[in-house]
Amino acid sequence: MTHNLLKGKRGIIFGALNEHSIAWKVAEKAVAEGATITLSNTPMALRMGELDALAEKLNAEVIPADATSVEDLKHVFERSVEVLGGPVDFVLHSIGMSPNVRKHRTYDDLDYGMLSKTLDISAISFHKMLQTAKKLDAIAEGGSVIALSYVAAQRTFYGYSDMADAKSMLESIARSFGYIYGREKGVRINTISQSPTPTTAGKGIKMMEDLMDFADKMSPLGNASAEECADYCVMLFSDFCRKVTMQNLYHDGGFSSMGMSLRAMNQYAKDLSPFEDENGKVVYG
Ligand SMILES: NC(=O)c1ccc[n+]([C@@H]2O[C@H](COP(=O)([O-])OP(=O)(O)OC[C@H]3O[C@@H](n4cnc5c(N)ncnc54)[C@H](O)[C@@H]3O)[C@@H](O)[C@H]2O)c1
Repeated sequence: MTHNLLKGKRGIIFGALNEHSIAWKVAEKAVAEGATITLSNTPMALRMGELDALAEKLNAEVIPADATSVEDLKHVFERSVEVLGGPVDFVLHSIGMSPNVRKHRTYDDLDYGMLSKTLDISAISFHKMLQTAKKLDAIAEGGSVIALSYVAAQRTFYGYSDMADAKSMLESIARSFGYIYGREKGVRINTISQSPTPTTAGKGIKMMEDLMDFADKMSPLGNASAEECADYCVMLFSDFCRKVTMQNLYHDGGFSSMGMSLRAMNQYAKDLSPFEDENGKVVYG
């Protein structure tokens, strides 16, 4: 069921890779709610070929960009304003990648070159996006910008490694820029802290299936799906949230407020043996 919540609004969606991506669902729902959009992702992601189908279905132009490049971002905003016919009303930053996590580097054995890349792609790109948009005046008065975060910004999760630092920085950028952009242009900037979700990025996290099961058992409402996250994004883009800004908003079925649930405790009680790696070595993870 749709409600025309974004009727007449223009937006840019960064980070739709395939049908599992959170950004893919947001793009679909935003258009179903009446918005016109452009899509952006890296040239490498575009070569994978799946985004074209979404673009065709939603009648959206795809504008390639590496989100760490200010030049590329400038092009995305300029081109979007041109093809959509005016400044945009909403932007989704749905971008994350850690070379350290990809290469299975643990947090006490980080490669610092890779750490810089993690921070640049997953957090500083958000600042670059906002600064570029503001200089071009490419976001309309009262616009809404969202980036996607994870509770590892506040609490430590085994295997999330340097992505936790990136998410802390991402949430801080939302507050710092939210003050300036709000004061000067009424633009709202928030992060949504989403449940673990089975996407390409999500599956890169160590023991993701166990983490998802744990989070689901801990959360009174269960894990939030990518579709449900898209609904939340649409609401935040809409005029129903005109005074919400500089917030990190949990969209996690209640997980972040829980200590221990009966369901999780029952599961835990089934196996109290120490965790051993493939060589039989006990790991204190
Ligand atoms: N999946 C989860 O469990 C989960 C939970 C909380 C938050 N998030 C966050 O949601 C966001 C979207 O991830 P997803 O789960 O939909 O996975 P996804 O793999 O579908 O999306 C990640 C996107 O980042 C893009 N990207 C990577 N490097 C880029 C660069 N240099 N420039 C531009 N784009 C780049 C990828 O091409 C991809 O489209 C990420 O910020 C992620 O950290 C995911």
